[in-house]
Amino acid sequence: MKGLILSGGKGTRLRPITYTSAKQLVPVANRPVLFFGIDAMARAGIEEVGIIIAPETGGEIREAVGDGAQFGVRITYIEQDAPLGLAHAVLTAEPFLGDDAFVMYLGDNLLQGGIDELVREFEERRPDASILLTPVPDPQHFGVAELEDGRVVRLQEKPPEPRTDLALVGVYLFSPLIHDAARAIEPSARGELEITDAIQHLVDTGRRVEPHVVRGWWKDTGRLEDMLEANRLVLDTIETRVEGELVDSQVEGRVVVEPGARLERCTVRGPAVIGAGAQLTDAYIGPYTAVGEGCVVERAEVEHSILLLGSSVRGLDGRMESSLLGRNVRIGRGAAQPRAYRFMVGDNSEIGIL
Ligand code: G1P
Repeated sequence: MKGLILSGGKGTRLRPITYTSAKQLVPVANRPVLFFGIDAMARAGIEEVGIIIAPETGGEIREAVGDGAQFGVRITYIEQDAPLGLAHAVLTAEPFLGDDAFVMYLGDNLLQGGIDELVREFEERRPDASILLTPVPDPQHFGVAELEDGRVVRLQEKPPEPRTDLALVGVYLFSPLIHDAARAIEPSARGELEITDAIQHLVDTGRRVEPHVVRGWWKDTGRLEDMLEANRLVLDTIETRVEGELVDSQVEGRVVVEPGARLERCTVRGPAVIGAGAQLTDAYIGPYTAVGEGCVVERAEVEHSILLLGSSVRGLDGRMESSLLGRNVRIGRGAAQPRAYRFMVGDNSEIGIL
């Protein structure tokens, strides 16, 4: 069985972060979200993994993932010229996939519990496709499935009036029949070849499509709130490991402090991770915070937030919370009077003064 990870897409809902970086590389607990999918494949014993990349962000993804040796898999990069849909991505990958069955994993998805069991079951039962489902409060934003007596009867992509609350999770297992199904369908109203329609085509032609309702949590990290939630869910699983330097500082609960980080007169209340080389002084880091590599926090309180590489937060009166800072962002208060807010922020940024 091969693996196919989709890591193209524009990530419009995570702008401005995604103007300069692929959404799949935004970190969750200081690890790019994409890496969790590759780990899941490796753990399930999949050795050959294709990654679909877009021309704009492919370079960055190649650089971060490399040849896959760090994960114990072999990576093949497959460029998709335009974001024409998930079924189009499958067709683009056909030369790589050949006649093999494969797991398709959307690169911005996180699935607790991995895919080991799913892969094992697929290999035993050999259905034509296996889909993962989970109840969600807002099914209109997903592919939605309708089951009858445990069988899939209907799949619709983002229906305005969903008939069930069962969303399609972004992890699919396919036999090579999916290629013909992808060729048989027409683009949807949003102009994409939808994988949902291709699977419906399998159903319509009498193929065996097996549904699995996932038990653990699943997150599509497309938006800020999802990113923060994914960060919470993953941080909840960490174990304490302090390799950096603590000077007059305390850590409470489960906290990771990476090598080269230095904390002086700080309190960190976990779960939280402090990246390598971060410098924290007179700071409080609250639960569910991931401070990236080389970040600086001084005279400030940060909670329930994600700070990417090289960002700094200095001298804030109030606590910063539920925030996502991109790379090398600087937030700070100067000594000058009169006191005022001064911003230099990119397009589509969001600032909340609460
Ligand atoms: C895609 C699929 C949708 C699925 C979702 C899961 O949507 O089209 O069926 O429920 O992934 O993350 P997209 O995120 O591309 O809009």
